[in-house]
Amino acid sequence: MCPSSHERVRKLGPTQPYLGGALRTAFDAWLADTVSRHTGDLAFREIRKGAQALSWLYVERRGEVDLAARTIDGRGKRAALASYYAPLHFLTACHALARIGAARFGEIRRVVDLGCGTGATGAAVARTLDAREVVAIDRSGFALDEARRTYAAFGLLARTQRGRLPAALPRGQDGDLLVLGWAANELAERERDALLGRLSGAIADGARLLILEPLAGAAVPWWHAWRTQLAPYGAEDFECKTPVALPEWIARLDKATGLDHRVLGARALAGPLEAVAAPEG
Ligand SMILES: C[S@@+](CC[C@H](N)C(=O)[O-])C[C@H]1O[C@@H](n2cnc3c(N)ncnc32)[C@H](O)[C@@H]1O
Repeated sequence: MCPSSHERVRKLGPTQPYLGGALRTAFDAWLADTVSRHTGDLAFREIRKGAQALSWLYVERRGEVDLAARTIDGRGKRAALASYYAPLHFLTACHALARIGAARFGEIRRVVDLGCGTGATGAAVARTLDAREVVAIDRSGFALDEARRTYAAFGLLARTQRGRLPAALPRGQDGDLLVLGWAANELAERERDALLGRLSGAIADGARLLILEPLAGAAVPWWHAWRTQLAPYGAEDFECKTPVALPEWIARLDKATGLDHRVLGARALAGPLEAVAAPEG
């Protein structure tokens, strides 16, 4: 790290462990299983190339190609998606919830994981908020197969459904948290616009919402419009950044690819949230 980026990281506070306690134990077992299933008969360089190809697609080709299809069209990419980006999303979601204040979501009975991918964000949120039930929707069969394993690895009761948003959005119920982890950005523009209206309606019916996306503003040109539309429904805008000591596998892939995830960052729209309790005394 160059001196100026060292300084930027230092200002964010002390480096934190990636997780602790029982959640860390479950995460480590899930990651080890995912790595062994996806990388057993692949050379490390194929996974590295897969991670670099995904990074190129996410950064350079966003909005130009069908990302949902292009990110899984090869074993190297699928291995990198499941064993590198998904665990990074899991950890980023956990640290973002810590920054927002998990208790502020109140009692969440069901997490609705929209564009669930391999289930990483939905599982992280459900475990952190102690919601035992997950409903997960994705257009990709590969994603749903992985997601079923992920929820099981974290002891969650999950129902997965293949479907395309916004049409597949289930009827909301009180105690629902609708989660979109790095997924809204992959929807076609028309789908995303229609989803926004449906999400507002779901919040008005009693659901809560958590959207996570990259910090880079260029990756989410629609963010301002979503924030403006969702603010009257109680959604608050956050920028979350936490320096984290990464798991060995992730650090190894970071080093090999030249990518740097030592600060886990995401922007979030979350709400409606309960008020922050005033300090006692
Ligand atoms: C970047 S992945 C994120 C996965 C997961 N939420 C996470 O945090 O790791 C985005 C997912 O959105 C799904 N997706 C894209 N467009 C969709 C749509 N219109 N309906 C349902 N799923 C969609 C893709 O198949 C992909 O699995």
